[in-house]
Amino acid sequence: METTTQALSLVDEAPATESFRDAALDGLRKSQKQIPSKFLYDERGSKLFDQICELEEYYPTRTEIGIMRDNVEDMVQSIGPQARLLELGSGSSQKTRILLDHLDDLAVYVPVDISRSHLVEAAEALAEAYPHIPVQPLCADYTTSFDLPEPPQPVHRTVAYYPGSTVGNFRPEEAQRFLSRLAEAVAPNGGLLIGVDLKKDVAVMEAAYNDAAGVTAAFNKNLLRRMNRELNATFDLDRFEHESIWNEEKGCVESFLRSREAQTVTVAGHSFSFAKGERIHTEYSYKYTLEDFAELVGAAGFSVETVWTDDQSYFSVQYCTVDG
Ligand code: AVI
Repeated sequence: METTTQALSLVDEAPATESFRDAALDGLRKSQKQIPSKFLYDERGSKLFDQICELEEYYPTRTEIGIMRDNVEDMVQSIGPQARLLELGSGSSQKTRILLDHLDDLAVYVPVDISRSHLVEAAEALAEAYPHIPVQPLCADYTTSFDLPEPPQPVHRTVAYYPGSTVGNFRPEEAQRFLSRLAEAVAPNGGLLIGVDLKKDVAVMEAAYNDAAGVTAAFNKNLLRRMNRELNATFDLDRFEHESIWNEEKGCVESFLRSREAQTVTVAGHSFSFAKGERIHTEYSYKYTLEDFAELVGAAGFSVETVWTDDQSYFSVQYCTVDG
């Protein structure tokens, strides 16, 4: 479906609410109760995530922005002229502005996001700030397959931009499948500019997901609030608590919602009982070594061409080219 919002044409491929209902019911029926983390991002969740990015404890955002600012000329060189920049999960597109400020001859910018209001707002602001760059917002769940809109002018190469270490929210096997699909979407001659959080001191990683102000807890618990609103669920938010802990074996911070007591909750007309201390798994945040990540993208059909990092090697931005 194509709708025109002011000067922009929004291509709308967003899934219906049933996908949240099905995912929540399927996940809550599992022995380890779980809900995919992509459902954390309704309108309120997206706003809370923006607040997380400002937190002192949450080092990834400011570190990645620093890397982008310090190396943007090299990144622009890698992307090359007349490119189509495809941003996955664009949100407020804050980091993209660093690129757009320097990409003088971009053929088109395609922000893809599942949150329609967030997407339209950000795309309109960008179209105004960069009137020389055509913007084609695409409302879609980029974790499933989606069709790219026809570009308004010839494109020399397509470069996917995937900042924020969002790749870390997939389990490695899912990440590989997703990156393989991305390799097909940008081939031939395409690229991938990706932000990847690196393994470091466990205390630093755990603090990033357990901030003192409780914003991450509110972001996590928003999933319960969303089920109450959209799926007619009966979660009492005070009877669950946020938990994020480093899992050394898997190499990720895992987030959960822990039931403070034995209780029964209804979701979309179905009853679910919780034992005291039982947890709903809500998010993986995988961290990589440079070697592990090169192996992961390699298996998906990309080769790492350049890695930029910060003084402490907390975070990396990597430019990968599609093989073949
Ligand atoms: C979007 N993603 C990379 C964030 C992360 O670090 O896993 C989401 C997040 N969850 C809690 N804090 C931030």
